[in-house]
Amino acid sequence: MASAEQIKSLVTSFASRDDERFRTVAMELAAAAARDGDAALAKSIQDMVDRSRRTTLPSIAPRAVPITRPDGELAALLTASFPRVHLSEMVLPTELHQRLERVLQENRQAESLRSHGLEPRRRLLLVGPPGCGKTMTAQALAGETGLPLLVIQFHTLITRYMGETAAKLFTVFEAMKRTRGVYLFDEFDALGTSRSSTNDVGEARRIVNSFLQLIERDDSESIIVAATNHCETLDHALFRRFDDILTFTRPTTPMVRQLIANRLAMFGAAKLEWKRVLAASKGLSHAEVVRGCEDAAKDVVMAGRKTVGTADLTEALRRRRSGTRSRRSAAKR
Ligand SMILES: Nc1ncnc2c1ncn2[C@@H]1O[C@H](COP(=O)(O)OP(=O)(O)O)[C@@H](O)[C@H]1O
Ligand SMILES: [Mg+2]
Repeated sequence: MASAEQIKSLVTSFASRDDERFRTVAMELAAAAARDGDAALAKSIQDMVDRSRRTTLPSIAPRAVPITRPDGELAALLTASFPRVHLSEMVLPTELHQRLERVLQENRQAESLRSHGLEPRRRLLLVGPPGCGKTMTAQALAGETGLPLLVIQFHTLITRYMGETAAKLFTVFEAMKRTRGVYLFDEFDALGTSRSSTNDVGEARRIVNSFLQLIERDDSESIIVAATNHCETLDHALFRRFDDILTFTRPTTPMVRQLIANRLAMFGAAKLEWKRVLAASKGLSHAEVVRGCEDAAKDVVMAGRKTVGTADLTEALRRRRSGTRSRRSAAKR
């Protein structure tokens, strides 16, 4: 049920013609319904909001909708949203793309698989360097299946107190049974190697062990996604518990070209001098290439122009590259 605050918010955003605010409150209601286990209501609100969007803007990051009706500690542990991301927006190696399609197919046909005693793949470990689409993959899995994306908040999950983290993990796994969704343990190494956060090897071991037991016993219908940049630091016992381990890599040159062509399709990408642009993108991650495109597009819009030229883009990519270099050296220091 909607709270009084939400009803007031809906009315005031309607009165002030604030469509975005109106949709946000409506999506908060959908997220609350999903959390309460009313998937049908959540879906129908979500569809109504969808239909109300007359113009769809390409690849906008989903807005996180905090769970508005906290049920004890769960509200602090999970953030719910309905990402509008599709797998087709992602630029990935063919094999990885096919494996993700397979995950989707198995989950779409979960019922018929289960009626034959078969389980769809639904525990995934995503491994790879930053900015190559691990988080986006979880968003796309949610976007494609229509399930809510529930992101586990490590800063509230991992605490300094003995046993408390394990109890919170248990709460999250219980939620997976009640509310079907895509549950994302992002930056999963925080859990797998929580030594650094607790300074207590025994406690880190216990957290990993309880995760192993919980994922082993998990018989929910939710999709569980763990993503990490550092698989070498993960406890090896963790690997066996996943149905699929998907490795992400930095983009190849044709992939970079595709990323730029997609992102700048409305800014005259067809006229770019690809040789120069691709040379300027060497070594950048997917995320850095996309952000470089967005920077160049912003420069152009602010200057009152309509198309991104080769010089605009190479300059924006150069700025990205030097920003990355200084961030990396700051991290080393
Ligand atoms: N494979 C990809 N295809 C298209 N865009 C991507 C891809 N990977 C990253 N991006 C862009 O970079 C952003 C950040 O990527 P993200 O998924 O957060 O990376 P990671 O989780 O691997 O660090 C995405 O929201 C998207 O705009
Ligand atoms: Mg990420």
